[in-house]
Amino acid sequence: MITPQTKAIIVNNPSNPTGAAYTPDEIREIGAVLAEHDLWVISDEIYEKLRYDGEEHLSFAQVDGLFDQTIVINGVSKAFAMTGWRIGYLAAVPALVKAVTKLQSQMTSSCCSISQKAAIVAIQNGEDETMKTMIAAFAKRCEMVVEALNQMDGVTCPKPEGAFYAFPDISAFLGKSVNGKRIDNSIDLCQWLLEEKHIALVPGAAFGAEGFIRISFAASDEDLKTGLQRLKEGLAELK
Ligand SMILES: Cc1ncc(COP(=O)(O)O)c(C=O)c1O
Repeated sequence: MITPQTKAIIVNNPSNPTGAAYTPDEIREIGAVLAEHDLWVISDEIYEKLRYDGEEHLSFAQVDGLFDQTIVINGVSKAFAMTGWRIGYLAAVPALVKAVTKLQSQMTSSCCSISQKAAIVAIQNGEDETMKTMIAAFAKRCEMVVEALNQMDGVTCPKPEGAFYAFPDISAFLGKSVNGKRIDNSIDLCQWLLEEKHIALVPGAAFGAEGFIRISFAASDEDLKTGLQRLKEGLAELK
């Protein structure tokens, strides 16, 4: 809800943790409402290239009348698989960039110049066959993970449109027990799966969405298959 107190709205599209993504028409429709208000649109588009629904990515900065209000957040970690290079960036009107630079230079040290140069090369030349191959591999893994999850008794998972996460509903298992241990929430479930089944998932509670867990499919097909099998076996043990 937008009120006179609203200074900014944060939108992450495609989304971590759900993988949901807005279509260009939806962005235009939401953007038209935002353009009528005096607020900043902080638009985290770090997964923009990782899209599986065939839709183009549209930035809020491209919506009529919204350019000056939009702060685009992006980085090279996801699409260019350059997580370790630690380069993220924002794009906004010069006055805001100047203010952010002033603050940031006092709060953190700078990114190393080698990473900065590498990121420039990635952004300028990186959208090549390698990236297409990577996105196609993610799309295949996405299908495989969602299908496997939906085949597990008591689990439902919508198909993500982007990013590299599946966010299944596991609420049917909450309140169940295993070996005398009660699983009350998604944190208990993830802890138990980590300790007993050696699979790492993020509890939905971390995102304010109890009853869900996040699975990243930025892993090899083999590891994903092993992990999904362990998840299936683990959930079946809960009574
Ligand atoms: C939505 C979103 N924005 C930004 C980031 C930041 O990524 P990094 O710290 O690797 O630049 C992440 C990483 O998971 C993310 O999910």
